Amino acid sequence: GRVEFRDVHFSYDPNRKILKGISFEVPAGKTVAIVGPSGAGKSTISRLLFRFYDVQGGQVLIDGQDIRDVTQESLRGAIGMVPQDTVLFNDTIAYNIRYGRIGASEEDMRKAAELAQIGPFIERLPDGYKSMVGERGLKLSGGEKQRVAIARTILKAPPILMLDEATSALDSHTEQEIQAALDLVSRGRTTIVIAHRLSTVITADEIIVLQDGQIAERGTHAELMRKHGLYASMWDRQREATEAEERLRLAREGDELGVIVRRRTSEVN
Ligand SMILES: Nc1ncnc2c1ncn2[C@@H]1O[C@H](COP(=O)(O)OP(=O)(O)OP(=O)(O)O)[C@@H](O)[C@H]1O
Ligand SMILES: [Mg+2]
Repeated sequence: GRVEFRDVHFSYDPNRKILKGISFEVPAGKTVAIVGPSGAGKSTISRLLFRFYDVQGGQVLIDGQDIRDVTQESLRGAIGMVPQDTVLFNDTIAYNIRYGRIGASEEDMRKAAELAQIGPFIERLPDGYKSMVGERGLKLSGGEKQRVAIARTILKAPPILMLDEATSALDSHTEQEIQAALDLVSRGRTTIVIAHRLSTVITADEIIVLQDGQIAERGTHAELMRKHGLYASMWDRQREATEAEERLRLAREGDELGVIVRRRTSEVN
């Protein structure tokens, strides 16, 4: 499960280069995180690994073999993809999870849902695992859909994982649940995680900072923080946002407390 991008060049449209010579390696069982501004080309990297598109220069290799030399089926069988926006089938939630391994037992399917932190949610639905989802059924939130995709991937148990974190803001509780699910599924697997939350990347073996289709910085979290470059400034900005959120929450709680205190005081009087 070793993944290598070797001097990869790619554009969707010949007039606009998206990836301009990307090289990195993910040793088997290790985790590489890709971060960078919106539009930098992060999701494009995941699409090339899954061969939705072919590179125009350079190579993508798995265990030293060019992915153009293996069948689509064996390539996609080896990779578990949790995309930014999971599309669900207009079918039951059980079918949507089982899609990871058609023919998986009911027990395995439920176990995967539990591990992905979506089990209790499904069990509370009136029709449970038989609930219809998708356009003509239950509408799941972004976080719920992503957990269904994680359950699917747990069931598939592929040697390589490609996770593209949702861009949408998740509440911190859901975020922690998803984080726990992702940690579980990535243990011992070659993992590439495209991260929008810097909290995800701290433990990565290597972090790649992509900017405008090129690798601007690379290293561990500690190394990149010492550089005071793009990564460090992204981190500072995110910390400021988190702190502002926290202040807002505390202020709101303070207000609520004030109301309770006033009410109690008037009760006493
Ligand atoms: N199918 C497509 N056809 C043409 N251009 C595309 C296509 N998909 C993406 N692009 C362009 O390629 C660039 C890189 O897109 P990509 O999805 O890789 O960005 P990203 O780094 O994942 O951004 P984000 O953080 O917002 O998800 C963007 O400018 C986008 O407009
Ligand atoms: Mg993206």
